[in-house]
Amino acid sequence: AAIYAISIIGGYLLGSISFGYIAAKAAGIDIRSVGSGNIGATNVLRTGRKDLAAITFIGDTGKGAAAVGLAFFLLLKADLQTRQIAMALAGSAAFLGHLFPVWLKFKGGKGVATFFGTLFAACWPMGLMAAALWLLTAFIFRISSLGALVAAALIVPLAFFTHTAPYPFLGMALFMAVLIYIRHRDNIRRLLKGEEPKIGKKKV
Ligand code: G3P
Repeated sequence: AAIYAISIIGGYLLGSISFGYIAAKAAGIDIRSVGSGNIGATNVLRTGRKDLAAITFIGDTGKGAAAVGLAFFLLLKADLQTRQIAMALAGSAAFLGHLFPVWLKFKGGKGVATFFGTLFAACWPMGLMAAALWLLTAFIFRISSLGALVAAALIVPLAFFTHTAPYPFLGMALFMAVLIYIRHRDNIRRLLKGEEPKIGKKKV
């Protein structure tokens, strides 16, 4: 139980590092006043700074992967299922840390990059499938949020029916997918009105 708690707390703390906010701030930009106001890589890209967007994406995916990895190493000697549950808890906690970071008064991001990072670290074929769904959608429509919504909607059924991931990781993915939808309410509204901006456009 103590190791589960350490996985969850460690996961949350890793997840709560807001790379987008920090990278923009270091460059003298208040990301909250740009575009959608979100702290994610998509919005950092709207500042025109590709380097900052890359740092944001790598940091936000990396912290999700690191959280899952932390639990993996903490439970290296445990049985497979116990380890998978701890990894799923740590990944979910990192995701919650990104959405609700204590350092930003719990006003965090939408979780898409962290979602990919945790999926890759937990079960790389599932991560690859999710990334492919995002890339395919974003490539066709050039809209980041739409890519995220398609990936979030399809990854759990896809991984389930292809027997790609064990239950703890499917549970983690489902939990995150639901929260991604809740977090993208404004995006969904804009998408339905045809007002969602294309990737890389500077203004919303
Ligand atoms: O990663 C978040 C993305 O799906 C949407 O971001 O800034 O367009 O709301 P944004």
